Amino acid sequence: MYRSWIVKLSSLARFSTVCLHAGQEPDLATGAIVTPIYQTSTYVQDGLGVNKGFEYGRTHNPTRLALERNLAAIEGGAEAFAFASGMAAIGAIATMLRSGDHVIVSDNVYGGTFRLFDRILSRYQLSFTYVDTSALDLVERAITPKTRMLFVETPTNPILAITDLRGAADLAHRHDLRLVVDNTFASPYNQRPFEFGADLVTHSTTKYLNGHSDSIGGVVVAVLDEDIEWLKFVQNAEGAILSPFDSWLVLRGTKTLPLRMQRHNQNGEALAAFLAEQPKVRHVYYPGLATHPQHDLAKRQMRGFGGMIAFELGSLEAARRLLNAVQLMSLAESLGGVETLISHPATMTHASVPAERRAALGITDGLVRISAGVEDLEDLIDDLTQALDRV
Ligand SMILES: Cc1ncc(COP(=O)(O)O)c(C=O)c1O
Repeated sequence: MYRSWIVKLSSLARFSTVCLHAGQEPDLATGAIVTPIYQTSTYVQDGLGVNKGFEYGRTHNPTRLALERNLAAIEGGAEAFAFASGMAAIGAIATMLRSGDHVIVSDNVYGGTFRLFDRILSRYQLSFTYVDTSALDLVERAITPKTRMLFVETPTNPILAITDLRGAADLAHRHDLRLVVDNTFASPYNQRPFEFGADLVTHSTTKYLNGHSDSIGGVVVAVLDEDIEWLKFVQNAEGAILSPFDSWLVLRGTKTLPLRMQRHNQNGEALAAFLAEQPKVRHVYYPGLATHPQHDLAKRQMRGFGGMIAFELGSLEAARRLLNAVQLMSLAESLGGVETLISHPATMTHASVPAERRAALGITDGLVRISAGVEDLEDLIDDLTQALDRV
């Protein structure tokens, strides 16, 4: 019975086909082309010890299973586990550590990841060292006999620094560390970390994978049997699962991931180029610009440069004027949705990062971040033009 949930996609299927079809088959009972929302807490058993592969909703759910198979195929991993948020997914990865272990983390990680490591997990005899992972010699120097994991975000949020994934994987494996990549910012359309040797890939599905700003979720994709067994156990034992409805929303989202990403990439590139020409903009952070310090590396390991752009306006007052003046762009946290969002990292997404750390990372009071949506580019440029006039 379980077999019927395994989609018979050719192993040669290409990325858009995989996004649309992997993990999904017409519903067995009705032929419905869209995987139904199995909103159920339990499953009636045929007899004692005889069931259809589903026993209890926390452990198994057909909608979640379809999504997990879809996401595993999209990332090119073996199995995926969907969680109630991106943070719950990262929390599940952290359960692979044991008391006394040490982790090296990209210094520019998402503020919530830093908060989880710094404020919660450090209470459990785990230690974390934050390093600019775009300089692998610094990573190597930070390795101690207790180091077990290298946790990398690339591109980073919000400065968009790039880490050499192949170099990071080689280094991690030479020292017997797991390489974990938070691939949220790039999306698997632009970057597939397993192809460079990553051991685990995580996403906030809240962002590009769902893509429509209407669901919070997370996923961990794994390749190693040992990790798969552990994550399966933890997902059920801790219970921070993605709901059937959210699983269905993300499944709907991944069908159009390639189409959306193409437009996010186009708008991202064009807005970055536009901002780079504006006299009031002091600096633009975007991996697609030739001025980006790791532009060549980004070209090698990314298919597109994404929709995330950060730029420096020089002061809190200038940032405030711009953020209050935009009309089409929405002032909001988050990213990766079809609508363009604009935000102020220092007081919004990175408010939980201490001020000195923010300053050291370049997250100044004048820094503004854009998540380019899929609107018509000209309308976005018109909006930025009128807002910059007010700065
Ligand atoms: C790179 C990155 N990782 C993880 C997260 C956490 O995801 P969630 O908000 O779904 O818990 C975020 C959220 O913004 C993020 O930007």
